[in-house]
Amino acid sequence: MQIHETIAGLRAARGYAGRLALVPTMGNLHEGHIALMTQARSHADQVMATIFVNRLQFRPGEDFETYPRTFEADCEKLAGAGVDHLFAPTEAEMYPQPQTYQIEPPPEQAGILDGEFRPGHFRGVATVVMKLFQIAQPDAALFGKKDYQQLMVIRNMAREFNLPIEIIGGETVRAADGLALSSRNGYLSATERAQATNLYRVLTKVAEAVRDGSRDWASLEQGAVRELQASGWIPDYVALRKKVDLQLPSAHDSGLVVLAAARLGSTRLIDNLEV
Ligand code: PAJ
Repeated sequence: MQIHETIAGLRAARGYAGRLALVPTMGNLHEGHIALMTQARSHADQVMATIFVNRLQFRPGEDFETYPRTFEADCEKLAGAGVDHLFAPTEAEMYPQPQTYQIEPPPEQAGILDGEFRPGHFRGVATVVMKLFQIAQPDAALFGKKDYQQLMVIRNMAREFNLPIEIIGGETVRAADGLALSSRNGYLSATERAQATNLYRVLTKVAEAVRDGSRDWASLEQGAVRELQASGWIPDYVALRKKVDLQLPSAHDSGLVVLAAARLGSTRLIDNLEV
């Protein structure tokens, strides 16, 4: 695996032979990330991972400073997964001057759900992803459904800017008890980790109720919020939405997803299930 810290180095090494698939990450890699690398391989001749903890997508008071940085272990995992290139720039390389031009996703997409609780978050994500696309010029890029709203924002950005990049979604990889793998799971204490499975359990219950014919979205959401609270979570939201645009479904809509964000102690986790 070739490791590139500079844009010039990456461009010189990449060459333009064959299809390139890009998998952007913030590092601290787990099986969910590695599944995207493996999936990327089936779409391209070369796979490029990126590791960059992007300050722009963190709000003041969030975990930018403490976000786990495990570069050596990450490199081993990527090499083991057969990744060809790793782009791991410094902050000075990515943002040599303040990023005054940014991508502003529309509020209907980026001001709802997680965007409501993390204002500006998707602006930071869209901006760094657009930069990574310009730097690496991939033919395809992979993003996990674990971050469902992020995937939607990036799909729409790619479409509206006519980017010649196929955006591919990867299924969420879970621990044996159902908890979606996340770099932030490492913040949980042993007790919290045991409680954490309730997030998946509650989402599963909502999804099953919808499959069984329930159409009262508000009462399903409220029931789920109460159940999360009863098991020690502090929910930001539980929301049933349309998969395509994450807007509110009407009673006869199908193709739904149930999304949630909640805090356990000081750790904020998100998850979702397609119905
Ligand atoms: P990060 O949280 O490191 O995630 C990198 C990619 O891995 C994202 O596409 C995310 O959806 C995916 N992912 C995370 N957990 C997963 C799981 N359990 N199963 C499947 N895929 C999973 O998301 C980001 O970084 C950043 O916002 C980024 C896109 C890199 C921009 O900075």
